Amino acid sequence: MSSWNDWIGEELHELDVLQLKRECMPVRNAQLPVLSWNGKKMFNFSSNNYLGLAAHPKLKEAICRGTVAGSGGVASRLIIGHSEETELLEREIARFKKTEKALLFPNGYMANVGMLTALVTSKDAVFSDQYNHASIVDGIRLSGARLFRYRHLDLNHLEKRLKSADQKGVRHKLIITDSVFSMDGDVAPLRELVRIKEKYGAALVIDEAHGAGVFGPRGQGMAHELGVHEEIDLHMGTFSKAFGVYGAYVAGKKEWISLLVNRARSLIYTTALPPAIVSANRMALRLVTQADQRRGELKEKTVWFRKQLMQKGFAVGNSSTQIIPLYLGENARALAFSESLRQRGVFALAIRPPTVPVHTARLRFSLMANHSWEQLEQTLGYIEQVNKTMRR
Ligand SMILES: Cc1ncc(COP(=O)(O)O)c(C=O)c1O
Repeated sequence: MSSWNDWIGEELHELDVLQLKRECMPVRNAQLPVLSWNGKKMFNFSSNNYLGLAAHPKLKEAICRGTVAGSGGVASRLIIGHSEETELLEREIARFKKTEKALLFPNGYMANVGMLTALVTSKDAVFSDQYNHASIVDGIRLSGARLFRYRHLDLNHLEKRLKSADQKGVRHKLIITDSVFSMDGDVAPLRELVRIKEKYGAALVIDEAHGAGVFGPRGQGMAHELGVHEEIDLHMGTFSKAFGVYGAYVAGKKEWISLLVNRARSLIYTTALPPAIVSANRMALRLVTQADQRRGELKEKTVWFRKQLMQKGFAVGNSSTQIIPLYLGENARALAFSESLRQRGVFALAIRPPTVPVHTARLRFSLMANHSWEQLEQTLGYIEQVNKTMRR
């Protein structure tokens, strides 16, 4: 029998050999387009702060204002953790998403896990896009529901899986998808998914972590952009990305939300968010709804940056959003590319399995509205330089 230390050593060694070992890298100013790493300034292409709001003075002020009430959330939501300000925030989210109700969660991971475990059990079937976020996968696993993964964006495959579930006598069917995929930057065909959910009597739940704030009128999200928001049963979104703060929400019909209040263990058995965060999320919501100019700039820069990469012959897949992957294939190549870019002052981390499928390691460039055109131009130049040196 091997000792714990031997086993841990072997596991780490294997990760090393496979070029899959990761470590936390201490950085400063991650909220800005230029961060600092090891005392060196770098263009920051690794944040989800798409609208550049995370360092907004009004958000910092809102954090300070919230803190006047105290530092901690002090109890779980069903005890005394549901402050008056949380109630206001939830009403504001519901208004923003045009739903009857909304429920604040500590973060997006817990929102997905809580929502799924509250809604489905071993009697039910969940149909999940192959590239859905890990928090969705974990929520399904924990719920015990039957998992039917369908190939990424492949609606024929989804329909086949729905038909096969019908033959197996499941109680309820639930289709779940990211609206904007976090590592590929492509978009789920929500209109077609609505048609399919109606055809098969399924529920449709979407994760707008990377869509809310960026797409739709006033940043309401991709479902609103595509005009299908009323057909979505639950909308999940997070405050940690375009909104620049922390926390997440699930929005939908009042009975659905009420079930989550009663059954979502990741809501019930944890302390409420601190007042500073609740206060900042209210301000972030206001800023996001007024951020048309930032959304416009982000879109313009994204379209240009992606087009330049494509014209230079780089593989960016089907990205049509602010998330632009540069596919490199093997882990070693992605790591070397990322490291060479860092030496030139560009911070874009290599994304490797298990976050993405094997042989599809990539650099994930996420753009911010406040990247300057010069930063983008210089970065493209560095990408070309690194590519040339790596081909030699
Ligand atoms: C698609 C998606 N869903 C959920 C989450 C989790 O959100 P949070 O960071 O708020 O926990 C993330 C990212 O972290 C994500 O990319």
